[in-house]
Amino acid sequence: MSAAAWSWCGAALLLAVVAASLPYWLPDLVVALRVRIFALVNGDEGIPVPGKLVGTDDFKRIYADPAANGRSRGAALSDLFWYWLAPGPQVHQEHLEPGPRYDDVARTTRRTIARLRKDEWDELVTRCAAQQLGRLGAADRAGKARRVRLRDAMMPVWASIYYEVVFDEPCPPHVRDMIVANADDVVSALKCTRLRHMSRRDRLTRYLRGKIASGAVPHGLPATLTEQEQAFYLQGTYFNTAVVQMSEAMAHLLLAIAARPGLQQQLRDGLTGEGTQGAAQLDRVIDETLRVYPLFGVAHRITTADIALGEAAIPSGSVLLFNYPAYHHSGSPDAAEFDPDRWLREHPEHLHHIPFGISANRPCPARGIAPLTMRVAAAEVLRRYALTTSAGHTRSLPNRGPCLLTPIDAQRPVPRRPTARLAMLRLRDRWEDVWRSLVQLVLGTYMVWDARRLQLCRSYFAAQEAEQ
Ligand code: HEM
Repeated sequence: MSAAAWSWCGAALLLAVVAASLPYWLPDLVVALRVRIFALVNGDEGIPVPGKLVGTDDFKRIYADPAANGRSRGAALSDLFWYWLAPGPQVHQEHLEPGPRYDDVARTTRRTIARLRKDEWDELVTRCAAQQLGRLGAADRAGKARRVRLRDAMMPVWASIYYEVVFDEPCPPHVRDMIVANADDVVSALKCTRLRHMSRRDRLTRYLRGKIASGAVPHGLPATLTEQEQAFYLQGTYFNTAVVQMSEAMAHLLLAIAARPGLQQQLRDGLTGEGTQGAAQLDRVIDETLRVYPLFGVAHRITTADIALGEAAIPSGSVLLFNYPAYHHSGSPDAAEFDPDRWLREHPEHLHHIPFGISANRPCPARGIAPLTMRVAAAEVLRRYALTTSAGHTRSLPNRGPCLLTPIDAQRPVPRRPTARLAMLRLRDRWEDVWRSLVQLVLGTYMVWDARRLQLCRSYFAAQEAEQ
């Protein structure tokens, strides 16, 4: 072979090696680049907590400080959150400033969630999960594994559940699809895997307005809001936050279980056997899932007075960025590892674990009911399917939890591991990571820019000030 041919071969080989190694380094590089671009477009505002100024030991104290109570006004970052949560971010409970409207909205949410007793929640979740899993199961072939994205599989379950919580009647299939389209659009935009589609969200707002106008909300709405704002309230709290958070939490839980066949078998045996050990073990797995993969990346607060910090102070008007993963994964050398048995060894108060926020500063109103309903839904899945996966599992879960579900046959309760399909799933997941990271970079940059251009939060407060 000539020297030129050798060098062509060498170049081709090098290209092949670089191409084959892409999934191992490109996604991380692109994520780092995305963070830098976000900071450039959005400005580098904010005090990371924990960080240089506020350490892990002060995390809870600063979060719980009464002066850490501003929600949206005064932070450039709020424009981006409002953009993602639209329509109606100004009345989304998470983003309302403290005051009578917030109190009214928060009271309504508490009352709506509390209206069902525990046994009624159990019945509702079991029924809706069974229906949706039945719909999946109708297409199953005996003993064959089917590939699903866990978040997508779970969304119709929670759409049906929260529709019934709000309207006290079963969810019609076309409305369930409308709710799923809305929630999926919000979460996909948040993760920068797709642009937002306001038409999908507006369709649901119009439907909710119609329901409100016909007096179909039996358990009351915040009286301080207009009818349009009430529709935004329902959409934001139940058909966006509740559906998104519960589907994400379930996707994390089921993916963690799917990746650990031994743990899965123990859970299934425990849940089908006598006694409460199975439920207790599942609760530990839920706690550990929400600890290792907290649903919130960062929650922000704007300080409305100085907060004392040793000799110094955090000045009023600062934007505090409470970083959940950083806090959860601190405190012990193995804190980032998934180990449900740590809950047997350690006292919960010694673990850094605030999956539902801080009780002194606007915690999640569903903190009591969310783990309980996750347990019921997970038990329903485990009873019907063996789960296996070889996909990557990260906190932001942009792959939506690829997983193989094999129906459990009463004659042959433990299906064989579908080894070849798992190898394919892994390969596909790795390559999707490469493509997706580039998509996230482009779409994320566009949305950060677009949110900055629209200034939804800033113009809302500017208009309010002009009115006063
Ligand atoms: C496993 C599921 C869930 C997790 C891990 C979760 C987590 C959280 C966290 C960490 C916060 C506080 C953030 C902060 O400090 O700014 C929060 C707030 C909130 N969550 Fe959840 N959530 C879940 C499910 C739900 C559900 C089912 C609903 C609705 C029924 C809901 C509605 C809300 C609302 C309205 C707030 C704002 C509270 C306020 O500012 O008063 N969440 N959630």
